[in-house]
Parts: sequence; C-alpha cells; structure tokens
Amino acid sequence: MNSRDTAASRRQLLKWLAASPLLAFPGLAGLAAQTSPRVPQARPDPMIWAPGDLQDLITTPADAINVFDFEPVARKNVPPAHFGYMASGIDDEVTLRANREGFLKFQLRPRRLVDVSKVDMSTNILGVRYDTPIVVAPIGGHRAYHSGGEEAVARAAKVGNHLMILSTQSTTSPEAVIAARGAPIWYQLYATNKWDVTKAFLARAERAGCLAVAVTVDRNGGRNQETLFRLQRTDTRNCSACHDRGNLEANYRTRPMYEGVDLSGLSNIQSSALTWETIKRIRDTTRMKVVIKGILAHEDAELAVKAGVDGIVVSNHGARSEDSGRSTIDALPEIVERVGGRMPILIDSGFRRGTDIAKALCMGATAVCVGRPYIWGLGAFGQPGVERVLDLLRTELFATMQQVGAPSIKNLVPAMVRRA
Ligand code: GLV
Repeated sequence: MNSRDTAASRRQLLKWLAASPLLAFPGLAGLAAQTSPRVPQARPDPMIWAPGDLQDLITTPADAINVFDFEPVARKNVPPAHFGYMASGIDDEVTLRANREGFLKFQLRPRRLVDVSKVDMSTNILGVRYDTPIVVAPIGGHRAYHSGGEEAVARAAKVGNHLMILSTQSTTSPEAVIAARGAPIWYQLYATNKWDVTKAFLARAERAGCLAVAVTVDRNGGRNQETLFRLQRTDTRNCSACHDRGNLEANYRTRPMYEGVDLSGLSNIQSSALTWETIKRIRDTTRMKVVIKGILAHEDAELAVKAGVDGIVVSNHGARSEDSGRSTIDALPEIVERVGGRMPILIDSGFRRGTDIAKALCMGATAVCVGRPYIWGLGAFGQPGVERVLDLLRTELFATMQQVGAPSIKNLVPAMVRRA
C-alpha cells in the first residue's frame, strides 16, 4: 500500500468511527480525538475539575487535603525497595483493590434531626479508653521509611491518644516506643518456627508494658510481592550494607525484639505450624490479653470465642497474605453475626477515609486499624506527616458522625449502613 492509499483508508476509518456507536465508549472516543480534533468527544460525567497531577506534590503536611496526598511524596523520599515493600500486595493484587472497592458495596444511611453539635469519638478497647477508635496498625521497620521510625509514629499517636500496635519486626525497642507514646501499647507477634523465641518475645513485650498481644495467624506461606520485586530492581543502593540475606540469624540479630534471644535453629521468622493449640499455649504463657489477628471466616471467629481469647482483628494483612479477592469489610458481617458481641472485633486492611471507618463501626467493629496511610505520612514528612494523616482521619470520621447523626460511637448502628 502506498502512502496515498494509507491516508485514504485512515480517513475512511475516522469517518466510520465518527458515525459509530462505539464512540459511546470513552476510550475509543479518546483514541479518535487523538487522530482528529474534529471528532466530538464525550465529556466525563461528572466533570473532573480538581487537578490530580501526581507531579504536584504537597510540600508541607498542612497542604494535604486527604491521606492519599502523602503517598507520592513518600514514593519520592523513600528508597524504591522500601516503598515497594510497603506498597506491595500479592500476585495480581486483586485483594489490594478489593479492600478499597469493598467499601462501595456498603452505603451510609444517615439519620437527621439529631443534635450532633458535640461529637464524642472516644472508645473503650479492652478496658482502656482512647479518644478515637482509629488504631495505629502494626507495620514492621518504620526506620526503612524515615529515620524517626517507630518513635516518631508513637509521638504522633500520642497527640490524638490513639492505640498503637507494635510489630515484632519493629526497628525500635518496645520500651522506647512506649516511652514515646507515653502509654502502654499492644504488641503484634510473629510466632517463629521456634517456641523459645516466641516465648522470649512474649516475655519482653509483657515486661515492657504491652497490654495485649495480637497474634498474627495469617502469614503461613511464601508470597509473590510483585510490586516489591519490580521496584527493588530499580533500587541502585547496596542493600547488603543493611540486610544480610545469606543468614536469617545475622539479618534479624540487630532488630530490637531479637536482641539477647537465642536465635540458633531459627529458620523462619513466621510460623506455618500455628494451631489453636498454639493459641492456648500463648494464653498459658503470658498475662497480656490475647487477640488473634487475621480472622476472615465466621468458623474461625467462633473458634476464637471458644478458645477464650480477648478479641480478634478481621484482617487480610493489608492484602499481603493471599490474593483471595475478598475485602475485610466484606468479611465483617458474617463475623460480627457469629461473635454476637462476645468479644471486641477490630478490623484493618484498606481503610483510608472517615466514611470507611464509620461503615465498619456501624457494622459492629469496635475499632479500625489503619496502616499504610501513616507510613505515607512518615515517609513524606516524618512525625508531622503521621500527625496530619491521623488528624485527617479523625476529622473525616468526626464529620461523618455528624452527617449520619451519631453524637457518639455507640450511636453508629447497623441501620446506618445498607448493602448497595
Ligand atoms: C509483614 O507483616 C508483611 O506483610 O510484610
């Protein structure tokens, strides 16, 4: 075909496209518009007026309009491998998306003419009063995102009197974190393949003053963290300066929770051999309250009640465990129904908005743990970033409570949510 023929058939294709109902599809309309400015384009409905250019990064925490504003700043500041580790889901990241999209399945059903000129967000979690039901979720290695690490997060949590849960993989000792928080925290346990190590962790956390241990039961196997692996390849730093990949013991020896613990025979920092028997053993070993983190099925919620634990966290580990495709907000109703108020139910994974939090509370959750957003704040601006992230979440929850007509947390009731 010569170039005249090519131009003629291109004109013909555009003519056909212009007359085609296929132009109802915005993608095709966009394609046609690129090739001919005269082809009419459907306007987005609703129109998008606010610019959302990822290049326009906020420069101070005060500039943030929502928690998402922090993520690209953290991406810019944090080494790609570290950012990738935090951002990553598993495989196709279906669960990562489901955790967000799940909230669309549930709609708020506001009540009117209720005096909400004063709103009290305070909550009681396992006998302790907090100013808010928003909990700082456990995430390992805060210093990988900012030199302020877990202490910066703890100080930010103190400002809003949030419960904080500290990971076993913390880069700061539990003693220092409790001092920075100025109040007891919870400890998130990764039981290893070696009971003596697990026992040492429990003893340390209890001695440090942790009120409860959240036993992680949802990390059993390997995982393909594709986002991590791809971003890791773009990281040109020398990782072996900090990570000793050849030797598990050497790699973890420097982590505060592992200090002074006999790590010989440690082959896995997580356990794939946990059973209800282990939960009983943990209960018999510690005086801390025992909470199971990672429950997604009502059968397990019932077993947790029978095991006499003090609470559960409905969690898919921020979509970092299995790519199940199911969000935690979707799993919540069956669990709430089965538990029937016999123990507190916390929930995490994908909570980014006050409305997300309000929905879970209406549906029967006692409290909501938020993870990645405060790490975005930390990576972006250190402690002030975390403070602002938590402040935005509190502000949004407060406004949502006013809008649905709930002057206190106990007024957030199931009738305020309907399945879409
Ligand atoms: C640990 O909790 C992880 O998901 O990396």
